[in-house]
Amino acid sequence: MPLVGIVMGSRSDESYVQETQKALDELHITYETTVCSAHRNPEGVRAYATSARERGIEVLIAEAGGAAALPGVLASWTSLPVIGVPLPTSELKGIDSLHAIAQMPPGVPVACMAVGNWGARNAAYFAAAILSIAHPWVRERYDAVREAQSRR
Ligand code: RP5
Repeated sequence: MPLVGIVMGSRSDESYVQETQKALDELHITYETTVCSAHRNPEGVRAYATSARERGIEVLIAEAGGAAALPGVLASWTSLPVIGVPLPTSELKGIDSLHAIAQMPPGVPVACMAVGNWGARNAAYFAAAILSIAHPWVRERYDAVREAQSRR
């Protein structure tokens, strides 16, 4: 059963999402990956977000570029934690998506990562930090990754 649900706004975001997937694989954290656009398929985003918890998902990661409404729209439909990754896929190179994701008005929070590959990787680690609270095996693996990087 996947613990993490990754949603990207477009198939064209895939190279960034692969960074998240690699880091989750390294932690042996199970995930599912979906392509669903907030502006092209808002009904699909609603259906995904409202069914995520009952399918066992505990954390959502949403990666999108441009106006990047996806993380906020997902968060509007669920109280699961949503981690947003702003992608540099537009002419504004991610400044647009960074602002869209970071500047959520109070009441519907989204955790905003760094733009691009850094954020995509950190989204996996932040998901691990959240999952560590209830899953000691995740904490063990995440602590091991942190310990290994402290020696670099
Ligand atoms: C956003 O617009 C996507 O997340 C993607 O980063 C960007 C461009 O999407 P496409 O037009 O390539 O599908 O919705």
